[in-house]
Amino acid sequence: MITELERQANKDKFIAYCREFIGGREGLERLLTYMDESGFYTAPSSTNFHLNVEGGLCKHSLNVFETARDIYTNILEPKRVAGETSFTQPINIESIAISTLFHDLCKMQMYQKAEKWKKDEAGRWVSYPGYEVKDDFPFGHGEKSCFIIERFMRLKKSELLAIRWHMCMFDVPEQGSAGRFSLRAAMEAEPLVSLVQMADLLSANCLEVTTKY
Ligand SMILES: [Fe+2]
Ligand SMILES: [Fe+2]
Repeated sequence: MITELERQANKDKFIAYCREFIGGREGLERLLTYMDESGFYTAPSSTNFHLNVEGGLCKHSLNVFETARDIYTNILEPKRVAGETSFTQPINIESIAISTLFHDLCKMQMYQKAEKWKKDEAGRWVSYPGYEVKDDFPFGHGEKSCFIIERFMRLKKSELLAIRWHMCMFDVPEQGSAGRFSLRAAMEAEPLVSLVQMADLLSANCLEVTTKY
C-alpha cells in the first residue's frame, strides 16, 4: 500500500523531475495538467502485478526514470567516453526523463476500481477491492503513450521509438514478422530503446511488489 502522504510526496517528486529535466520542452505544463485531471497520480501500475495499488503508476514511473538515469550515468556513459560502446553520441537526460516518466501514460484511466471475489481459507467467497481493465481507446500499449504525449508535446525520434518499444518482446504481435523486425531495428538505431526496456523490466520485477489480496 502507498499511503496518501507517500502519494503526495511521489507526485511532488514527479513534477519536480519534469520541471528540472524536461522544463525546456514546450507543452510540458499542459501535459502535466492533463495527467493530473486524468488520475495519473492515483492510478495503479497494474491490476494483478507490480504496484497494483493506488498511486502505483506514478511510483513505477519514478522507479523507471531513476533506474535508467543510474544505469546510464554509472554504466553506459563512462563506457561511451572510453570509446567502448556501439553508439558515439551521448543520450541526453531530457530524453531519458521523457521516455521513462511518460512511458506508461497509456495506463491512465485504464484500471477501474471494482469489487473482486476470492475464496478465503475456509473456502467461502469474500469480496475485496481490486481493479479491472477498461480501455476506452485500445490503440496499443506504447503506441497509446506516444499518442497521448504527442497531443501536448513534440517527441524526438529516439523518444518515440523508446516509448513505443519499451515492452520489448512482451509486445510483439504474435502474427507476422514485421513487429519483430521493427523492434530489432529500433533497438539498433537508438540506445535509448534498450535503456528504457531494461529500466522498466528491472523496476517492475526487482523493485516493485505485488499486493496479494
Ligand atoms: Fe508499459
Ligand atoms: Fe512500465
